[in-house]
Amino acid sequence: MVLSASVLGADFGRLADHCREALDAGCEWLHIDVMDGHFVPNLSFGAPVMKGLRALAEAYEARFDVHLMIEAPDRYLDVFAEAGAGVITVHQEACPHLHRTVHRIRELGCQAGVALNPATPLATLEDIAADLDLLLVMSVNPGFAGQAYIPATTDKLRRAKAFLQRHGSRALLEVDGGVTPANARAAVEAGADVLVAASAVFTGDVAANVAAFRQALTYAV
Ligand code: DX5
Ligand code: ZN
Repeated sequence: MVLSASVLGADFGRLADHCREALDAGCEWLHIDVMDGHFVPNLSFGAPVMKGLRALAEAYEARFDVHLMIEAPDRYLDVFAEAGAGVITVHQEACPHLHRTVHRIRELGCQAGVALNPATPLATLEDIAADLDLLLVMSVNPGFAGQAYIPATTDKLRRAKAFLQRHGSRALLEVDGGVTPANARAAVEAGADVLVAASAVFTGDVAANVAAFRQALTYAV
């Protein structure tokens, strides 16, 4: 199980230091939420901010887990690959030529992820499942940190795991939005391999927050 600290929840006034706290506490990945004000009703940051964190990520061997909540993401894939992305995840809803996009991400030497909004069915990935390195199931409507986990997500994760197995896919299953120590265990038991958390990692004492995740997951499968 991987804990991916969503940088969106960090204090931007001391971004690298705050991210270092998350890595010191044991977060394995840094989740980079890129928002364009079109695909989602919010703006965040782009590849230059990620570049600013690159030395830190390399020092900790932490993977950049890039979540592109933008329209026409194909325009920026090379920019994020160049900035050191490990995984690049695009939204199914933003990609009319998803097969091309997924294969372009892989050509760039990154792992390819696809995200589904809460109302988007797994069946929309029927014909691309076998080519994915990561499937991101959104547990909130994307756009903001600090929203509540949608309870139906846990069952969707269970179905997503079975869906990937049925397609012979070894893609990692990631869940993002409202993930806390209180629901992490259910998500992992439902099949999640990667948990993304912004607020539950960066609000308050980062070390204690990450320890609370580990504690909640101690006996999880
Ligand atoms: C939501 C982003 C999430 C967000 C999670 O649109 O994709 O990654 O940062 O924030 P929390 O963990 O606070 O729900
Ligand atoms: Zn995200």
